[in-house]
Amino acid sequence: MNASAAATNTQAGVGITAVAVTMARAMESARADRMFHDPYAQSFVDAAETVLGADEWASLVAWVDLFYSRGVVRTRFVDDFVCEAAAGGCTQVVLLGAGLDARAFRLPLPDADVFEVGTPSLFAFKDKVLADAGALPTSRSRTVVRADPHGDFAARLADSAFDPGRPTAWVAEGVLPYLTAEQARHLVNDVGRLSAPGSRLVFEHSDKPGPDPRAAVSARTTPGADRISTMVRGGLGAEGRDWVAARGWSIETTERGALGPLYGRPDDRLAGGQFVIATRD
Ligand SMILES: C[S@@+](CC[C@H](N)C(=O)[O-])C[C@H]1O[C@@H](n2cnc3c(N)ncnc32)[C@H](O)[C@@H]1O
Repeated sequence: MNASAAATNTQAGVGITAVAVTMARAMESARADRMFHDPYAQSFVDAAETVLGADEWASLVAWVDLFYSRGVVRTRFVDDFVCEAAAGGCTQVVLLGAGLDARAFRLPLPDADVFEVGTPSLFAFKDKVLADAGALPTSRSRTVVRADPHGDFAARLADSAFDPGRPTAWVAEGVLPYLTAEQARHLVNDVGRLSAPGSRLVFEHSDKPGPDPRAAVSARTTPGADRISTMVRGGLGAEGRDWVAARGWSIETTERGALGPLYGRPDDRLAGGQFVIATRD
């Protein structure tokens, strides 16, 4: 594992950022007015609590306090993206930096093969929790690909049942910001090489230079949350959407702030970012 992967890992080998967004999903799933249901999120959180250090736990609680609304709106948007892409002919779904994403076990994907890219230590944790919960894939198949999302994942995918000739829905959810610009561009270039026409890629974007200033200040000054914010490397950056558009992708942008009201949950803290769906020309 390289240095940046190690930096995002907890003492237990499961990424602390992955546990944080999963905690938000567990809280959302328990609400009467939930905007999605992740039946495994609470099991992941419970298992993580037994292995995380107290300081790690405190930091992810602080992070969730700040970024709950963003995490759950993003989850719902990506859920819809995956289902619509699969219905539209993307019969492969690749979750890059899959973390504790349980979409292969909770979304109706009977005609799609799901590939999860993550580190070996992540899958050791994740697959034990899923097995203990008796989880069965709701996708046609689920394949684990042990690799860094920006490292050798393309070669590892090629060694699996993945077929670059079939249109693919690629999910880069909460992953690019933890990579440097060079790593993020490398990842998107690899995705492009493996994408048949009609393939789609979803990622989050902000056209402000650097992190959203309000969120960045909160993340730095809220005790504990700084532990996660210091992991952010910036990803594709403010030019990311244009950079992707210049490399053979057609771009569709959705304002994150517009989704809150659409999902019945308006929230000022959603402003300042976009979701990008890129379709391979
Ligand atoms: C915020 S989590 C998101 C996880 C998942 N996409 C989801 O939405 O549930 C970020 C993920 O990226 C992974 N990640 C970030 N940088 C990485 C790297 N250099 N190598 C391996 N994994 C990395 C983390 O371990 C974690 O699983």
